[in-house]
Amino acid sequence: MANYETILVEEKGAVTLVTLNRPQALNALNSTVLKELIDAFAAYDADASQHCLVLTGSEKAFAAGADIKEMQSQGFADMYSSNFFAGWEKVTATRKPWIAAVSGFALGGGCEVAMMADFIIAGDNAKFGQPEIKLGVTPGMGGSQRLTHAIGKAKAMEMCLTGRMMGADEAERSGLVAKVVPAADLLDEALKTAETIAAMAPLAALATKEMVNATYEMGLAQGINFERRLFHGLFGTEDQKEGMAAFVEKRPGEWKGK
Ligand code: CAA
Repeated sequence: MANYETILVEEKGAVTLVTLNRPQALNALNSTVLKELIDAFAAYDADASQHCLVLTGSEKAFAAGADIKEMQSQGFADMYSSNFFAGWEKVTATRKPWIAAVSGFALGGGCEVAMMADFIIAGDNAKFGQPEIKLGVTPGMGGSQRLTHAIGKAKAMEMCLTGRMMGADEAERSGLVAKVVPAADLLDEALKTAETIAAMAPLAALATKEMVNATYEMGLAQGINFERRLFHGLFGTEDQKEGMAAFVEKRPGEWKGK
């Protein structure tokens, strides 16, 4: 397994655990973190033995944002010519499922990375926010879009304009997170959920992710047609035959990913 400077990567059975590891900067996301996450996520996507990934941080901070000290001296020409932050699209291009397990601060880019996940599980100490306005800028890694999709315009606008933090309970009520668990149980709960997903038929998991994400891009009729076509396609797999035979024979399915 590759050695990284700013993240830790472990395999736990069929689940890859990636831990952001810049405690001195509350896991601020600098260009090394991005480069290493791109590499680790690509390795996960390519590894046929891995079927779900959990991204987490420390107890105090999932990530306190993009690295302000790295951005501070940049000008427009630097940002525009390097298409700063565009590399995150390589992380969101991950085809297999992944979960963000959020404890503590998930601010700015930290909140935005959590929202790139297929869903978020939060510790009851989690705090989400898009405080970029306090720095004289705006969200830049998708926050204005993904937060609005997740919690609606009124709350997203209020969060982005005031920069206030939202606690875990409000985040669950608002639809930003899938569930809230006691902070001490966060990693266990996230890994348990990841193991459940990893035990599903892999092609059905890929198709599920693809069709749910299509709601961001398609109208209802087109999205339903897209879902139906992917559903039809799964009838060309061995796992569909196995899954339905296993149900009829009252036994668990054994998946081949074919
Ligand atoms: N970038 C760089 N360094 C950061 C950082 C960040 N986003 N967040 C925290 N740090 C550093 C601090 O500078 C500090 O380092 P030093 O000890 O060298 O001074 C260390 O992490 C610990 O932080 P604090 O002393 O501030 O810890 P605290 O417990 O008092 O406060 C906090 C915690 C409220 C999260 C506070 O650190 C904070 O407000 N951080 C910045 C949050 C923020 O504005 N995030 C948005 C960044 S911009 C962005 O993300 C753009 C985008 O859309 C992608």
